[in-house]
Amino acid sequence: MSQTATPAVHVNVHNHIALVLIDNPPVNALGVAVRQGLQHAIAQAEANEQVHAVLILGQGKAFIAGADIREFGLPPQAPSLPDVCNAIEACSKPVVAAIHGPALGGGLEVAMSAHYRVATASAKLGLPEVQLGLLPGAGGTQRAPRLVGAQAALDLMLSGRHIGAQEALRMGLIDHIATSDYVETEGLAYVRHVLAEGAQVRRTRDQTEALADKGAQRVAIDAARTEVRKKRGLFSPDKIVDCVQAALDLPFDEGLRTERTQFEQCLASPQRAGLIHAFFAEREVLKAPETKAAKPRALNSVGVIGGGTMGAGIAVAMLDAGLHVTMIERDDQALAQGRARVEKVYDGLIAKGRMSSQGKAIVMSRYVGATDYAALSQADLVVEAVFEDMAVKHAVFAQLDKVCKPGAVLATNTSYLDINEIAAGVFRPQDVIGLHFFSPANIMKLLEIVVPAKVSADVVATGFELAKRLKKVPVRAGVCDGFIGNRILATYRTAADYMMEDGASPYEIDQMARAFGYPMGPYEVSDLAGGDIGWATRKRRAATRDPRARYVHIADQLCERGWFGQKTGRGYYLYANGARTGTPDPEVLAIVDAERVKAGIKPHTFTPEELQRRYLAAMVNEGAKVVEEGIALRPLDVDVTLVHGYGFPRYRGGPMKYADMVGLPTILADIRAFAEEDPLFWQPAALLVRLVAEGRDFESLNKGDHHA
Ligand code: 3HC
Ligand code: NAI
Repeated sequence: MSQTATPAVHVNVHNHIALVLIDNPPVNALGVAVRQGLQHAIAQAEANEQVHAVLILGQGKAFIAGADIREFGLPPQAPSLPDVCNAIEACSKPVVAAIHGPALGGGLEVAMSAHYRVATASAKLGLPEVQLGLLPGAGGTQRAPRLVGAQAALDLMLSGRHIGAQEALRMGLIDHIATSDYVETEGLAYVRHVLAEGAQVRRTRDQTEALADKGAQRVAIDAARTEVRKKRGLFSPDKIVDCVQAALDLPFDEGLRTERTQFEQCLASPQRAGLIHAFFAEREVLKAPETKAAKPRALNSVGVIGGGTMGAGIAVAMLDAGLHVTMIERDDQALAQGRARVEKVYDGLIAKGRMSSQGKAIVMSRYVGATDYAALSQADLVVEAVFEDMAVKHAVFAQLDKVCKPGAVLATNTSYLDINEIAAGVFRPQDVIGLHFFSPANIMKLLEIVVPAKVSADVVATGFELAKRLKKVPVRAGVCDGFIGNRILATYRTAADYMMEDGASPYEIDQMARAFGYPMGPYEVSDLAGGDIGWATRKRRAATRDPRARYVHIADQLCERGWFGQKTGRGYYLYANGARTGTPDPEVLAIVDAERVKAGIKPHTFTPEELQRRYLAAMVNEGAKVVEEGIALRPLDVDVTLVHGYGFPRYRGGPMKYADMVGLPTILADIRAFAEEDPLFWQPAALLVRLVAEGRDFESLNKGDHHA
């Protein structure tokens, strides 16, 4: 006998087992049709005397990836997921969940509501709601502790990590690992086993064993609470701990009510909106026009030119991704230093016990160094990371033009130089692209894929493919001074310098940035990166600077004294005896004062809120210009760039999402007010003016149909 419940959930009754198949591509998210289908299927199974047991499984590549994230923020539609989970658990016939691929969030909550769980080796289980600013809201905070105890449940919910079948079995989250990947066959076999054993319904809500040792549970909960409070910023972790406490102290139904209240608070929080925006934006950036139009070129062996800070980091990123790397340096000594920089990363891992010497040897067997460019004749892609100087770049690209095989991708890691000009120097401009990594290149997730005028689409697609292999977040950028990220950075750093000269101390500005959610403030970052880097850039650009623009000399004053930051023991802060965290320096404040006097400025105080408004308005305004000029495809590309390359708090979504949440009219009014003091710096972006006039927001320019 066979019946179909709804298009999203198929029910097939065979040999007394109701096989409930969720079919909602691509990942079987629990949208309203799936929830209705599941509810209906359970009711049918309950009513049908022929049915002795129920098997729930997913069609395609996943069991269930969770609640449908696109529905958050929209009016709720019945049945709710908690009701569906309760109905599954209440079923009077044994219910088995057979898991393959992702069983995440609401997906795992469905599985935990079933009476038995079997998983294939490919299963990925987790409660990643915390990454979306949420907590498991369909009974997960109550059922997970009953299955695995408070400590393991807290670990899953606070980290959001995905675990494999083996770990899930050890934890007690599942009952059995299937021997093959045929989830339907394995699931049915397990149901027959359950029935043959005479097993009855086994409701998670009634399980007591994992929570029996109350003392141990309390220790785990207290420890988690302490950990969570140390990491300020996120809203939902504290609430997750509250829910687990409720699982320990309250009857199941009351615990569920606690969870509901807490979940709804998370749902209403701006962090939820910010994090869900980030989730979709990180997926949208992958959809550049060229990745749709063309296939990537082959990518096995790569070349890296320059073994300095960036070259070495890029080489490590490539090696970590399993690629073969050839590094080119100017002479044997520089090459030895380049290799040493690469090895230092792995030696650091060995020292921390995260790599064996044998592991290092295996990785380093894919590395070769050379001083002769001929070693690059077979490379599929070459990234140049030599000095930031157009003449040096031209010389390097001329060499590459000579030695590289036809079709090799020739990439530059330049921070600011004109890539069209670099491409114009070779006979194959269609193969030249910008791949802008961030320091440290083996750690930072952002990769700007900078698209010059003549590059062919498959080269751009290869850039995105490389990012995927390196597990980086790619953002397509157009050519301009600083591309997306450094261009916007330059603007809000200038705004910070203006505020400093006008009366705020660098320490107040850093404090404001940290309070906003940045891991560090702009002056701490400068001290970490080394003030000399910015100084060199400023000197290089002095000749082309707009003579009408205001210029703050404070940073140059520090550099002239040799105060480059951490590496020299002082910069904006003092770093006594090699300390990593600095202390405020009265001499710096005296220099700031002296510069104010020289510039004829009468300092005034700024509240933290005023500092934040200016800092963010500068960022958003430049972001709007970058979008308006087509340097970024959409506002969301700016968001992803600033989150993954510049420390903008992910839970705020990005500067453009932040602007939408504040309201574009407010941002524009601020910019116009600031423009009264300095109309040149605070010219409102035409795009911002237009959107405000039309009553629209940045989100209206983001493609895709999500509603975060
Ligand atoms: N809801 C809606 N759409 C989803 C989704 C979800 N839960 N999960 C993934 N998608 C969409 C993606 O946006 C993407 O759409 P696109 O093709 O239009 O861009 C498509 O599914 C495929 O996703 P990926 O590109 O990410 O595919 P991968 O194979 O790389 O990864 C995955 C699959 C591991 C399932 C990953 O998508 C993922 O981590 N998804 C989110 C899981 C999650 O956070 N679940 C918890 C949801 S909150 C919840 O359940 C609340 C509950 O407690 C009440
Ligand atoms: P670096 O000075 O640390 O390293 C440059 C290396 O290139 C040196 O080891 C030098 O010996 C080598 N080199 C110079 N000319 C060469 C040539 N003709 N052939 C082979 N090797 C040569 O510089 P860094 O910081 O690594 O920067 C490199 C590039 O990356 C620059 O274009 C810079 O703008 C860009 N960049 C730097 C970032 C940073 O944070 N340092 C971030 C992103 C990009």
